[in-house]
Amino acid sequence: MKTVLISGGNRGIGLETVKKFSKQGYRVFLGTRNYEKGLALNEELRQSGFLNVIPVALDITDQASIHEARQAIEKQTAVLDVLVNNAGIRGDQPQTPSSVNLDSIKSIFETNFFGSIVLTQAMLPLLTLSSEPRIVNVSSELASLTLHDNEDWKFYSFKDAGYGPSKTALNAYTVMLAYELRHTAFKVNAVDPGYTATDFNGYKGTQHVSDAADLIFKYATIGKSGPTGQFLSKEGELPW
Ligand SMILES: NC(=O)c1ccc[n+]([C@@H]2O[C@H](COP(=O)([O-])OP(=O)(O)OC[C@H]3O[C@@H](n4cnc5c(N)ncnc54)[C@H](OP(=O)(O)O)[C@@H]3O)[C@@H](O)[C@H]2O)c1
Repeated sequence: MKTVLISGGNRGIGLETVKKFSKQGYRVFLGTRNYEKGLALNEELRQSGFLNVIPVALDITDQASIHEARQAIEKQTAVLDVLVNNAGIRGDQPQTPSSVNLDSIKSIFETNFFGSIVLTQAMLPLLTLSSEPRIVNVSSELASLTLHDNEDWKFYSFKDAGYGPSKTALNAYTVMLAYELRHTAFKVNAVDPGYTATDFNGYKGTQHVSDAADLIFKYATIGKSGPTGQFLSKEGELPW
């Protein structure tokens, strides 16, 4: 049975991605900051027919928590086939470039950028043992500097100084890691899940979490001839 770890798997896009992988026959490690709630959630999932889900306590801004999550996973499996770096925060508003509080930007980067890197590094030894290791870094269209230069783009006025740049940095890490792993079986991609109705945006997103989960699943299980080091969305490649 193939294995996957999804950070921030307890709600929103992450939870729907947990369900998707479970239905597709994966053993799913559901990363959750609140382990007790994760256990209760897993009971609900099991009763709804989502099997082989294992909650794992995981706060990606806490190196000890990441280390313990790895140990918990290693008790269950030697091999991790897929890592979905989904956990992310939008951060406090406003994030006006000229006046945003630096601590606010730092906390966004701690989660969206540094946390995803530390989790990736911790899981690489387990991923390396997979015959088809896949990493999806859940990014955002708001990371695209090219689109930020296009006045006709629907999110042109979304110029937050913290959130978008944190995902731009995550995209850069995706490119660098994919290059380092280019002669291996790894596929490492940044995926924009699309504007999705979750807590993250007060449920203003225009698509359902299942659309986001389907897309993440697609790139997290892409075949040998699939892309690596790319920035991908429902429409295909996004400009950097
Ligand atoms: N929704 C959209 O329209 C949209 C669009 C583009 C990209 N995205 C990206 O998609 C991903 C998921 O977003 P969402 O809409 O599902 O948001 P969400 O409903 O707010 O869920 C965020 C998840 O991340 C977890 N999380 C936050 N900080 C964490 C940390 N330090 N350690 C571990 N887990 C942490 C949260 O856990 P808690 O429950 O403990 O807070 C929660 O499970 C994010 O990376 C987001 O940037 C979303």
